[in-house]
Amino acid sequence: MESALDYDTAKALLEWQVELGADEALSEAPVNRYALDAERPKSRAQSKAPPTAAAKPAEIDAVQAARAAANAAQDLAGLRAALQEFEHCDLKRGAKQMVFADGNPAARVMIIGEAPGRDEDRIGQPFVGAAGHLLDRMLAAIGLDRKSDDAASAVYITNVLPWRPPQNRDPKPDEIALLLPFLTRHVALAGPDIVILMGNISCEAGLGKRGITRLRGHWAEAFGRPALPMFHPAYLLRTPQAKREAWADLLELKARLERKS
Ligand code: URA
Repeated sequence: MESALDYDTAKALLEWQVELGADEALSEAPVNRYALDAERPKSRAQSKAPPTAAAKPAEIDAVQAARAAANAAQDLAGLRAALQEFEHCDLKRGAKQMVFADGNPAARVMIIGEAPGRDEDRIGQPFVGAAGHLLDRMLAAIGLDRKSDDAASAVYITNVLPWRPPQNRDPKPDEIALLLPFLTRHVALAGPDIVILMGNISCEAGLGKRGITRLRGHWAEAFGRPALPMFHPAYLLRTPQAKREAWADLLELKARLERKS
């Protein structure tokens, strides 16, 4: 493109911009920003709306989109598809794949973990790493098995988040809030008698509070169903002395299932 400026003037202008801190050419062709102004939506400073009102709609829209997509799902296959198509969660872009659920959807017990880890992200199923193996052994100790075809002895397993957070960091409150409509619908469609909230993240999603050491072993209500908070198996791997409480909670679960069978 031909420039109206002579070489020395253009060079001096460029050097002046570099001196001011410009270190990147954004486009090769010049942009007429006066012409753009007419088309551009008003900036926050120009707009009459207060700053928070300008920031909030995007978040609200994403949660509303999640709610609409989740509530439109009529069965678990539809919910899985809706989640797969949901584009508002950044975690999706960093994960290898979505981890939806495992086990028997007809089970009386639904277990809700936190989020996929490295192994789950690779395999596409919840609780398949070291914590998952411990979970399977814990369940086997009270006669439950995710592979069982019999609803009475089966479990159904999912997580608060279906995508692995980077470096296995804890899920953030806004990520939990964004995906909560899908989890709520997931529980409603599976229809378990009892929900097990594994660890703090799951308690935050189901009960709106953390504090697993205090909450564990006490029946609560989550997603409109009886819910038992328990230590997360990953915590039990790090803290073997807490297995005693976990065993007590498993026995409590077994007793409740027997009472209501
Ligand atoms: N921890 C969880 O909470 N969920 C998994 O799926 C694996 C580990």
